[in-house]
Amino acid sequence: MNQVVNPNSRVALISNPLVEHSLSTMRRKHTTDAEFRGALNVIAPHLFAAALADVKMKTSWWDTPVMDHVEMSVINDRVLLVPVLRAGLGLLTPIHELLPGASVGHIGLVRDHTSLKATCYLNKLPSGIKDHFVIILDPMIATGGSGCDAIDLVKSSGATRICMMSLLCAPEGINRVYEQHPDVRIITAAIDSHLNEKGYIVPGLGDAGDRLFGTQ
Ligand code: PRP
Ligand code: URA
Repeated sequence: MNQVVNPNSRVALISNPLVEHSLSTMRRKHTTDAEFRGALNVIAPHLFAAALADVKMKTSWWDTPVMDHVEMSVINDRVLLVPVLRAGLGLLTPIHELLPGASVGHIGLVRDHTSLKATCYLNKLPSGIKDHFVIILDPMIATGGSGCDAIDLVKSSGATRICMMSLLCAPEGINRVYEQHPDVRIITAAIDSHLNEKGYIVPGLGDAGDRLFGTQ
């Protein structure tokens, strides 16, 4: 389903016609909130499939309607999805139903518009996540401050196997996450040009949380 450019890189760039088409819908200024959410619903499963590339699998034997004891692969990891509120909820909705057994923890971060520093207002993670495969969900990696804070919080709760599923990154944010957390792989659909003076990704798509929830 996905084309992962340079699979050995710590950044997996997911690109195919459906992802590119839907991302273009999200970028356009006059796209409605409903269209914006719909396009993210299309893209998210492609990112999720790539995020699961490092998950542990096991072989089992099951009967099909026509043959007994057929060898099959199934996921053999406890997966924890961690949306960073608010915008991360837009990624959670379309992927949780694809793996309904995954646990969900919530982290609430909000960026101050002047300092661009994030403040944490919610940290609700399950206990005993040391061996879980943790996927942090946040569509935007701009300065990388929120992403680094979210990774710090899941690491403080014991997580050791972490990846970040995003949608759109600025090079500055990727570099910051890499410097502070070189063990964390980033999955994204695009790496844009730069950040503007207000800390927005350029050309970007604006404020993801506002566009998802109609608060602009
Ligand atoms: C946005 C976005 C990221 C963060 C990225 O959240 O969803 O969490 O900004 O910026 P950074 O890389 O510079 O930290 P925001 O603070 O706007 O909150 P929201 O999701 O509630 O809108
Ligand atoms: N957060 C967003 O939602 N958009 C940006 O461009 C940067 C941070």
